[in-house]
Amino acid sequence: MPTGSANAVVGLHWGDEGKGKVCDLLAREHEVVVRYNGGANAGNSVVVNGERFALHLIPTGVLNPGTLLVVGNGVVVDPAKLLDEIGALEARGIDMSRLFVSDRAHVVLPHHKAEDELREAYLRDRLAAAEPGLHATGSPRIGQIGTTKRGIGPCYADKVQRAMAVRVGDLLRPDVLREKIDASCGYRDILFRELKPEGVPEPKAGEILETALAWGEALRARITDTTYLLHDRLAAGDRVLFTGANATLLDVDHGTYPFVTSSSCSALGIGVGTGVPTTRLGRVLGVAKAYCTRVGAGPFPTELTDELGDRIRERGREYGTTTGRPRRCGWLDLVATRYAAMLNGATGLALTMLDVLSGIGELRLCVGYHLPSGEVTERFLPDASELESVEPVWETMAGWDEDLGHVRTPGELPPAARAYVERIAAFVGVPVELISVGPDRAQTIEGRLG
Ligand code: GDP
Ligand code: IMO
Ligand code: MG
Repeated sequence: MPTGSANAVVGLHWGDEGKGKVCDLLAREHEVVVRYNGGANAGNSVVVNGERFALHLIPTGVLNPGTLLVVGNGVVVDPAKLLDEIGALEARGIDMSRLFVSDRAHVVLPHHKAEDELREAYLRDRLAAAEPGLHATGSPRIGQIGTTKRGIGPCYADKVQRAMAVRVGDLLRPDVLREKIDASCGYRDILFRELKPEGVPEPKAGEILETALAWGEALRARITDTTYLLHDRLAAGDRVLFTGANATLLDVDHGTYPFVTSSSCSALGIGVGTGVPTTRLGRVLGVAKAYCTRVGAGPFPTELTDELGDRIRERGREYGTTTGRPRRCGWLDLVATRYAAMLNGATGLALTMLDVLSGIGELRLCVGYHLPSGEVTERFLPDASELESVEPVWETMAGWDEDLGHVRTPGELPPAARAYVERIAAFVGVPVELISVGPDRAQTIEGRLG
């Protein structure tokens, strides 16, 4: 499909699909790259000629010289992390003068991170105290989410609660900032007093205000109304790429709630997260791994808790880019992938990590769910308590032993690998337009299958 003026790259699973690599490749065909959701919970890796970059808040197009970089209003910005990231990239010789941040993006403050820790600790303790057998499925329905502890949930909660939330534009309005920080620290005082946190620093309004004013000064030249900026660029004929952080099954509305993040991660979030209507979108590339992974808690019907899962984890180096946590690994869930492709309006699939499946033997694909009632469904069940109780309906396919790291065209793929990719495209109903066979930019197969 030809690249239009507004296009998107989104993750179809629970994150870490390789969006960083795919965005970096697509960014070359765009003048502007925009982040529309999430915060420093994201960890998007790009490897160029063996050199690895891990991006958290800065849009992945940064490694393409000249691309304008925009952090949209839907993002929650931790300015300390953003400034660190800018500094680290500048130290590697990358021009960062082209980065702009929405004045309407929300600011993650130190007490948001403290509250994230506290809520998780509260849920952990509550779960530990729960009577055995309390939960019918044997799995917790209420428990720790396993957040990245980057303050994401509490910051988005403040945004929706409104009155005391700090937006990036407020960093340049000392009077407004003081009032908001005073009020929000006062409110946290009440909350934290009740929970009596050990080792969690109390929010100190004076210190936070001083830090926030310094952030404002450091970011002043980058803070702008990015909605107008984007519309002006589109009107001038620039091509804009929207890059989703986190992923569709972690979407606050459409993911495996409550084991999700707090933003609209799917392409549905582009409109609210940038001010550019999704009707402008041309190509939407859904990124899916050739298997599935998940970090943190929540249902994962195809999870492999045995040696094979460990093997996939080691071969795929499945450890979190942001937190270093081992990722849970499992077979590819086609029911979930098709659901995510549907929500995003995916026009194509980017299938990553195909190289990791070499030498695994026979492969399994989940093509339906057995429900507790005995029925079988091909529909995804986004509520965690329902998804928890399904058993996969499996389809098996022959594996392959060849190393795929050097394959560059669909024709060079072993027939079994090709058949696997074609089966995925057929089930999801969307063609595979890009296959990734290694972390490096160069380890990519472009060409349509399915
Ligand atoms: P993101 O959050 O979706 O951007 O993904 P991450 O960067 O967190 O995780 C993907 C990991 O897989 C990173 O370490 C990438 O360098 C690596 N990676 C990406 N594509 C491939 C691939 O096709 N094969 C292998 N073996 N690794 C890949
Ligand atoms: P990228 O962009 C993988 C998960 C966390 C946790 C849940 C909520 O690298 O794909 P949060 O800190 O957001 O409140 O955590 O969401 N999570 C991710 N998992 N990749 C991500 O981003 C994630 N962003 C959030 O592990 O289970
Ligand atoms: Mg990641």
